[in-house]
Amino acid sequence: MLSLVLILSLHLWNAIAVTIDMEGLPDTGLDTSSWTQGILPPLDDIYDLNDIQMAAKNVLSAKYYASYRTGALNEYTYQANLGIYSKVRLNGFSFRDVSSMKTSTTILGYNFSQPFFIAPAAEAGHANKSAEASLASAAGKAGILYVPSISSTLSIEEIAAAGLNGQVMFHQEYIWSNKSKVLDELSRMKAAGFKAVFVTVDNTGINGIRTRSMRYTDGSDTGHAANFDLNALAAFRNLTTLPIVPKGIKTWQDALTCLKLGFPAIYVSNHGGRILDGAPTSVEILMDIRKNAAEVFNGMEVYADGGVRRGTDAIILLALGARAVGLGRPPMFANIWGEAGVMRMIDLFAQEMYTSMQLMGVSNVNQLNTSYVNTNQIVPLS
Ligand SMILES: Cc1cc2nc3c(=O)[nH]c(=O)nc-3n(C[C@H](O)[C@H](O)[C@H](O)COP(=O)(O)O)c2cc1C
Ligand SMILES: *[C@@H]1O[C@H](CO)[C@@H](O)[C@H](O)[C@H]1NC(C)=O
Ligand SMILES: *[C@@H]1O[C@H](CO)[C@@H](O)[C@H](O)[C@H]1NC(C)=O
Ligand SMILES: *[C@@H]1O[C@H](CO)[C@@H](O)[C@H](O)[C@H]1NC(C)=O
Ligand SMILES: *[C@@H]1O[C@H](CO)[C@@H](O)[C@H](O)[C@H]1NC(C)=O
Ligand SMILES: *[C@@H]1O[C@H](CO)[C@@H](O)[C@H](O)[C@H]1NC(C)=O
Repeated sequence: MLSLVLILSLHLWNAIAVTIDMEGLPDTGLDTSSWTQGILPPLDDIYDLNDIQMAAKNVLSAKYYASYRTGALNEYTYQANLGIYSKVRLNGFSFRDVSSMKTSTTILGYNFSQPFFIAPAAEAGHANKSAEASLASAAGKAGILYVPSISSTLSIEEIAAAGLNGQVMFHQEYIWSNKSKVLDELSRMKAAGFKAVFVTVDNTGINGIRTRSMRYTDGSDTGHAANFDLNALAAFRNLTTLPIVPKGIKTWQDALTCLKLGFPAIYVSNHGGRILDGAPTSVEILMDIRKNAAEVFNGMEVYADGGVRRGTDAIILLALGARAVGLGRPPMFANIWGEAGVMRMIDLFAQEMYTSMQLMGVSNVNQLNTSYVNTNQIVPLS
């Protein structure tokens, strides 16, 4: 009798066990059999950023998961972002003292504990009611940079208030065709204490076509100005005294233009594969800048992002010349647990980076340069 009940309940249990399509992500041995669909899994089950994505997939509605996860068109660039790091080999040197490690760095002159930051991503409120507040506080506690999106769930002032005392944050802005909106937002960013503005220049006028999320929402007008040329860029710089960093640079020519115009930094990015499908990855763009306009790396700071899911991915971008590396989707997914999830994400990622640096014989992030990477498998763009 007892065994019959056991067999029956085992059978039932098997029937409800969650299986998740892992989308070809690395198999980390994640066991979701004890998870219930729609219910937040325990953070203890989570060992890396891919696990975090699967947990978010388990919890979020199909609509909101799609809105975070989607790329543009065939998602060639989205997939290339994830895959490119497997083509770079890391040179690890022995006979080095790695007993004392330093990962802290400066970004635009401000001190941060890590050379990676939380990139601007819209609508954090779809993952958790705390929305951007938990991203801000987690970043503050970990001592890393957070750059909230202008399309956030919370207002500029609410996000500033969620930060810790003295926490340095930058803010992202779009080029709205409504000039008074731009002016209003820039002055509020400054008043709220944000120290720099990342102005996104890769989807002026129009957004990428994102089939995966179009099934749930209409691709409504972005409100972005389509006539954003070099004159408009010059005019934009005059609207604020905050340092401006163009985000979404995808060619060495645009990188060089920004250097000549005297920007303090650029942000190399294909927007997580969400804008121009077919755009190159940051690895390829950085290599292209090295080849055609290497002076960019001495003349300004360069940030980069796209598909960064492992500490080793960040190391590759840093070695190719990035000063800091952005994480887009992972913090958004981690926010299903609120601040605790985001902090766990930061911690796991920092551990991977720290450990890999040690294994490479690198005791300070500022030592990372091209001698640590072998890119022979990557065909140069031009
Ligand atoms: C859900 C989502 C929303 C985003 N919203 C913005 C945005 O409002 N402004 C912006 O400049 N970039 C935005 N991005 C792009 C990110 O800043 C970043 O470039 C990209 O996500 C990095 O790729 P990753 O997600 O593979 O880390 C968004 C990305 C995602 C995934
Ligand atoms: C940043 O760190 C350096 C070195 O640790 C220190 O000298 C400097 O005062 C710090 N700057 C700020 C603004 O905290
Ligand atoms: C433009 O932006 C301003 C400031 O945010 C706002 O008050 C105004 O309604 C906007 N105009 C239009 C036409 O949307
Ligand atoms: C920006 O401001 C500078 C200095 O005030 C001025 O010389 C320049 O003409 C302005 N440029 C634009 C495009 O407004
Ligand atoms: C959101 O985050 C909070 C912690 O900030 C957590 O307690 C809660 O379970 C999370 N999930 C939802 C659905 O709000
Ligand atoms: C990279 O840095 C090391 C020191 O960490 C230095 O010896 C080497 O010359 C540098 N290589 C390049 C290509 O800059």
